Amino acid sequence: MTACGQSDSPASDTAATPAAAPPPEPRVLSDEERAVILASLPGPYSEADTENGRRVFARCRSCHTLPEGGPNLTGPNLWGVFGRQAGSVEAYNYSPALREADFTWTAEQLDAWLNDPRGFLPGNKMAFAGVRDETDRRDLIGWLKVETGYAPEA
Ligand code: HEC
Repeated sequence: MTACGQSDSPASDTAATPAAAPPPEPRVLSDEERAVILASLPGPYSEADTENGRRVFARCRSCHTLPEGGPNLTGPNLWGVFGRQAGSVEAYNYSPALREADFTWTAEQLDAWLNDPRGFLPGNKMAFAGVRDETDRRDLIGWLKVETGYAPEA
């Protein structure tokens, strides 16, 4: 899309009709994009062992995809989850508890959620006991920030 598009140039407007737009292709980040995001993370997360994070995510993989445009499984696709309103992936059928929750996902919120999903938000339908090890959560959250396209402030 160009900012200077005029209404008298119809050939450039082919993507303007939402109903006609195809779903985005799942996208894989380059190593460069990953390194830039990781280095920019605040606090403990820039020191995350992302290899361990990837291993911990094996516990989530059966229910969640990460890439942009990835499908919802038992749980919603997690692309862009940091900075996103909880329970806001369109076309995903959340529990009332998560749909009506009034907060934005930050590293801190995710840390509390993953430590004890049931205690953090009673009534949610994520059937998962939690990741009790603090270092595993740090590594997982650091890795998730990279893999879900976290956009740090410039
Ligand atoms: C057995 C399936 C399952 C597993 C395993 C699982 N989840 Fe979930 N997850 C869900 C479901 C279902 C929901 C939606 C809960 C609701 O609507 O109450 C959810 C919701 C979430 C959300 C909130 C998303 C949003 O849009 O608000 C996050 C973040 C999340 N899960 C992260 C994880 C991570 C990270 C792991 C692994 C450590 C994990 N989940 C493991 C099923 C699962």
